Amino acid sequence: MKETQIVKVDPDSPDIHEIERAASIIKGGGLVAFPTETVYGLGADGLRADTVDKIFLAKGRPQDNPLILHVASPDDILRVAMAVPPDVDRLVQLFWPGPLTLILPKEPHVPDVVSAGLPTIGVRMPDNIIALTLIAESGTLLAAPSANLSGRPSPTQASHVADDMWGRVDLILDGGSTRLGVESTVLDLTEDPPRILRPGSVTREELEEVLGHVEARVPGSENRPSPGQVHPGMKYPHYSLDIPVFLVEGEPQAIVRRIQEEAGKYRSCGKKVGILSSEESKGQYSGYADVVRSLGSRHDMTQVAAGLYRTLRDFETCQVNVLFAEGFSERGLGFAVMNRLRGAARGRIIYV
Ligand code: TXA
Ligand code: MG
Repeated sequence: MKETQIVKVDPDSPDIHEIERAASIIKGGGLVAFPTETVYGLGADGLRADTVDKIFLAKGRPQDNPLILHVASPDDILRVAMAVPPDVDRLVQLFWPGPLTLILPKEPHVPDVVSAGLPTIGVRMPDNIIALTLIAESGTLLAAPSANLSGRPSPTQASHVADDMWGRVDLILDGGSTRLGVESTVLDLTEDPPRILRPGSVTREELEEVLGHVEARVPGSENRPSPGQVHPGMKYPHYSLDIPVFLVEGEPQAIVRRIQEEAGKYRSCGKKVGILSSEESKGQYSGYADVVRSLGSRHDMTQVAAGLYRTLRDFETCQVNVLFAEGFSERGLGFAVMNRLRGAARGRIIYV
C-alpha cells in the first residue's frame, strides 16, 4: 500500500508549486493521477520501463493492453514516433490539444512495455492546463491510461479515482469534473485507410472531412469483427459494474415500452430496478423503477457523454439489482456513447 495524497488544483490557473510537487513524484518514479479534458489519467514517466510497469500493477491491467503517451507539445511526436505520415500535421492543427490519440510507428527507444510489444505507439496532447503543465514540468512524456482499476468505468472526477486507486497511487491532482466525460478517439494511422480503434469526442464524421474514408468497425458495433480479427488495441472494451446492465436499442418509443415491460417483471419479483434514460423519456418511468437518472436530451449528446460514467458509478451507490439503459443514435458523438454503453452491457443487448 502506498500513502496516497489528494490535492485540489484550480483547473484554470493551477498553483505551480503543487504541479512541481507532482512532477517531482513523476521524476522520482512515482504515480500521479491527473485530470484531462476526457477522463482522469494515471501518469508515470513514459520513457522508463520500470515506472510504466508500476502503472500496469496499480491498475491490474493486462500486460497486452498498450498505453497512450501524453505530450505537452506536437513537436514531441518526433521523440517517440517515426515515419510520421503527412496527414498528422493537419490532424494536429485541427484537433490538438484535444481528444484524439494518434497511433503511429514507434521509435525503438520507447520501452516495449508502453506499447505492449506492438511496433506502434499511441500519442496524444490533452486539452487541460493541469495535464499540460504537469507533462512539461516532468520533463518527459507521461504514459497514462484512465485512472480506474482495470475494467471499471473511467473516472471523470477525483473521487472516482480515489474510490478505485486509494493506496495504489502517490498523488491525485483534483482538478474538478472532466469536461468531455469519454476517453479520446483512438485513430490508427498505420493502416490505409486509417481506422478508428476507439470512438471518442472527435467524431468519425470530423475525421472523414480531413482524411476521406475512415474505417470504424469497433467491437460492439453492428458489424463486429470476429474474435480472431480483433486488433490488439481493441481487446478490452468492457466495463464491469457491480450490477447487470441491459441496453435496449431501437426507436425511442419502442425502447420506453420495452423497458417499462422488463422493469415491471423484475420489480414484481422484488428486485430493485434502475433506469438510465434520456431527458425526453424519464417522465414515462414513474412507477416502473426505483431509481431513474437522465443523461440529458437525445439532442445534446455532449451532455449525455459528459455524465455517462458518473451516472453509471452512481447506480452502484444506489444498490439497484439491475439496470436498464436506453440506447441513443450512433451519429456523431453518439458512436462513442453507444460504444461505452455496449461495453457496460457486455452483450446484454435487447433490440426492439
Ligand atoms: O482520453 C484518453 O485517451 C484517456 C486520458 C487519460 O488520456 N486515456 C485512456 O487510456 O483512455 P486507456 O489506457 O484507458 O486507453 C487507451 C486505449 C486502449 O483501448 C488501448 O488498447 C489503445 O488506446 N491503444 C493504446 N496504444 C495503442 C496502440 N499502439 N495500438 C492500438 N491501440 C492502442
Ligand atoms: Mg481505460
